[in-house]
Amino acid sequence: MCGIIGFAGNTEAVPILLDGLERLEYRGYDSAGVAVASPEGRLQVKKCKGRLGVLREALAAQKPLTGQVGIGHTRWATHGEPNDVNAHPHVSQSGKLAVVHNGIIENYLEIKQSLLHKGVVFASDTDTEVIVQLLEYYYKKSSNLMDAVYEVLNRIKGAYAMGILCSDFPEQLIAVRKDAPLLIGYGADGNYIASDVTALLAHTRTVTYMEDDEVAVVTADHVQILGRDGCFLEKEKHQIQWDVSAAEKGGYAHFMLKEIMEQPEAIRKTVSPRTIQPRLADGEIVFEELEDERDLMKGISRIYLVACGSAYHVGMIGKYALERLLGIPVEACLASEFRYSGPLLGESALVIVISQSGETLDSMAALREAKRRGSKVLSIVNVMGSSIARESDHVLYTWAGPEIAVATTKAYTTQTVLLLMLGVYLARRLDRIGNGEYQEIVRELHGLHERIGMVLKNLELYQKTVARYFNHDSVFYIGRNQDYALGMEGSLKLKEISYIHSESYAAGELKHGTISLIEPGTLVVALAAYEPLVEKMRSNIVEVRSRGAEVVAMTTEETRDMIGSQASEVFVIPKTHTLLQPVLGVVPLQLFAYYIALNRGCDIDKPRNLAKSVTVE
Ligand code: M6R
Repeated sequence: MCGIIGFAGNTEAVPILLDGLERLEYRGYDSAGVAVASPEGRLQVKKCKGRLGVLREALAAQKPLTGQVGIGHTRWATHGEPNDVNAHPHVSQSGKLAVVHNGIIENYLEIKQSLLHKGVVFASDTDTEVIVQLLEYYYKKSSNLMDAVYEVLNRIKGAYAMGILCSDFPEQLIAVRKDAPLLIGYGADGNYIASDVTALLAHTRTVTYMEDDEVAVVTADHVQILGRDGCFLEKEKHQIQWDVSAAEKGGYAHFMLKEIMEQPEAIRKTVSPRTIQPRLADGEIVFEELEDERDLMKGISRIYLVACGSAYHVGMIGKYALERLLGIPVEACLASEFRYSGPLLGESALVIVISQSGETLDSMAALREAKRRGSKVLSIVNVMGSSIARESDHVLYTWAGPEIAVATTKAYTTQTVLLLMLGVYLARRLDRIGNGEYQEIVRELHGLHERIGMVLKNLELYQKTVARYFNHDSVFYIGRNQDYALGMEGSLKLKEISYIHSESYAAGELKHGTISLIEPGTLVVALAAYEPLVEKMRSNIVEVRSRGAEVVAMTTEETRDMIGSQASEVFVIPKTHTLLQPVLGVVPLQLFAYYIALNRGCDIDKPRNLAKSVTVE
């Protein structure tokens, strides 16, 4: 969704802002803009509908915007259509103030009405413009910019991360946050604000995460952070481990393919620090992060796995696995539904929130609801220092590195493996898993990254196979148990990047209605890697085949013949412990979706209407 970059330094701001916006493109946007304060105190703004290239061209065609302090924004429209006027930055009526904003101002209509009565003229349809016009109103009244900022914060309701420029203070920018991410970066040529660390990696890896209700005043050589009461705060600086190459394509046609190929390394980095090598002695899963909470499960009688999109599909796999391992009810819940569905929260419920970005608003709201109602929250998050990570009681980080493609791949596999490891770890502590099975899982965890590497050696097979299928306009995914959960993910991958209609069904459920849609030529992707139900899946494949479906199957080496003989095409994955099988099984589905989208000429890394991190409800 929307992205913010801001710079106050000793060098021209525009190139830095454009570079930052380029690195934020992956979040999804429909317009972009920059505002720069000239040294003599004049705000210059340029903003355009469309890709960043349009803004670049527009800037190149006019007198350069000069100045060393500026703000930039990529907008994902919520209030008002995507056009030049609704793009950010928004400027106050006098032209003295400019604002970029991520989030939504819930009471903007009421504020707009009262400003309209006072004669303020609005240019755009956005909620953001009320911020800048209101700021000007208070600034005119008090002649004190910081007082005016606090007046605005007292008045507006909703979520916001903001960057503010004022022509009376051309050497500074002001940053504000509430319920939307914003961080400050400390660089050699100046200081930065950004909504996402990837925008800063080329300049600095030293950052401070802003908390809700904090206000920062940023100049070339100084950053002051103040609390809601106006007092100065001493804030910790963090070093980001990611390097800039991790957020670049590195020779791949798309970030998505690069990230698919990075999975062996991402899995290794996530698994190996948490497993003790099983050599002569027995192996062990260790979570140092949970050292202080050895009794995490004490008094816990149910677990909720709460997430959105692909992360929810991880939760579905977790439901099957954790319920079996721990012997207590485990529910996978869509975060957007969670707080409205009367979950049985309280001290006896453990809530596990799963999120790549750590900023998904629905997941964040579910977390807060769980905490408010007395449940412990553990989160599985990829982005260090993100809001969900900071508000959880415990955090387990997936070490997938930055994920840029909108369609998640390496975050999904690392979330899955981490959740499964957690289940096995807890089962061991509760004495609910036999040593034999436990040792086998630990051994298999060690080899998992190599097995993913084996699947990825076969890129040509996928490329060739998919060429036959990219023209279908509807695809069904079927599977049982954890393969059903995997089908949900495969289907979502296909939908989001190729725009092909697709649905996922529990294979045994087809006969209760959906089988009526199967006709000669219908494409069915049949997932048959879950060993206990492979024979039943074979029957389901026969069922759809006998109605004319074309079947692409996914199975393991062990059942290749049984399943392969029934399918037009079969993707074979190495065998591992049943519990871990989905970590391998998802890879062919990612490649299948990728090559179909490629054949259809889709914008794979930035699919239409989608955003990487969804920070609205
Ligand atoms: O950052 P999160 O993991 O919280 O994001 C959740 C979903 O928005 C995300 O998984 C989405 O479904 C992906 N784009 C799917 O590829």
